[in-house]
Amino acid sequence: MRDEISKLRDEAAEALRSASDLTALEQVSVKYLSRKGLVAGLFKQLGKVDAAERPIIGQLLNDLKQQLENLEAERTLALKPRSKEFDVDTTLPGRGTWIGSYHPLTIVMREITDIFGRMGFRVADGPEIELVKYNFDMLNTPPWHPSRDESDTIYLPNGFVVRTETSPVQVRTMEKQDPPVRIISPGRVYRRDRPDATHSPMFHQVEGLYVDKGVTMAELKGTLLAFYKELFGQDTKLRFRPHFFPFTEPSAEVDITCPFCKAEGCRICKYTTWLEMGGSGMVDPNVLQGVGYDPEIYSGFAFGLGIDRIAMLRFGIPNIRLLFDSDVRFLRQFSGFTPR
Ligand code: DAH
Repeated sequence: MRDEISKLRDEAAEALRSASDLTALEQVSVKYLSRKGLVAGLFKQLGKVDAAERPIIGQLLNDLKQQLENLEAERTLALKPRSKEFDVDTTLPGRGTWIGSYHPLTIVMREITDIFGRMGFRVADGPEIELVKYNFDMLNTPPWHPSRDESDTIYLPNGFVVRTETSPVQVRTMEKQDPPVRIISPGRVYRRDRPDATHSPMFHQVEGLYVDKGVTMAELKGTLLAFYKELFGQDTKLRFRPHFFPFTEPSAEVDITCPFCKAEGCRICKYTTWLEMGGSGMVDPNVLQGVGYDPEIYSGFAFGLGIDRIAMLRFGIPNIRLLFDSDVRFLRQFSGFTPR
């Protein structure tokens, strides 16, 4: 009897394992495990077994039945067509994760604050919703000045504007502290501008201000040259073009040699080899007086430079709107860059 059990176990297990589909499995199950199957047949012989041996053989038969039923269940599971939901193709490559990156403007702003930081400028901050008083009046902007026009400036109720420049941070900083003052202030500014490849109604500037006894225009030029050399390479040259800003006297527009074509002439610099980067000048005595600094004792320089343009040049970005569209396909391209 023991031999028979063991033989049947081997035979049935082999048959169950090699059943290649559900129909074949069903046939094997009927043959061995049904009520009239071979296992049941062995149970029937139990009566003929020695009374002393019977419990042991009975146990062996129970085990056999259990083992074969387990095998049958396993095999059914393996052969059952799986529903779509659980159909996982484990050979597919993983989806992968993307590590976030700095926005190109963040990269450039950090570089700017780092370079000026090493020259002793700390970062000052100011509100984007600004009082007309700080945005225009205290910056010595006459009532007739075109920058005040509603066609350029977004006015808000109760004497506020959305700031059109970062220059009001100069006034706020000087109001709060005595000279010497040496700050930069990067941030967003807003103007009613029709958007195109190089204009956006919101863009970024960095303001700079240095006031102390005996500050000269030569220092202004030297500071800006050192900054742009650090940013675009030591062969960069800088020139001043005379200009007018209400808050500086004298005032100058700042040009640098085109870092894109290395001053060879290209589409970016419109074949002039020069690029306009912002405005600058010696702080107007009226502005100093307005914040309570004595212009007979103190002098200072100030500048306001475009940041978006720097980012566009630095990374070869052809359209300013790419900076603000939040398109991941664009942003992903900067994952290799970390601010210096
Ligand atoms: N605020 C000026 C503008 O937005 C830029 C500027 C010019 C800032 C001269 C200054 C400066 O601080 O001295 O066009």
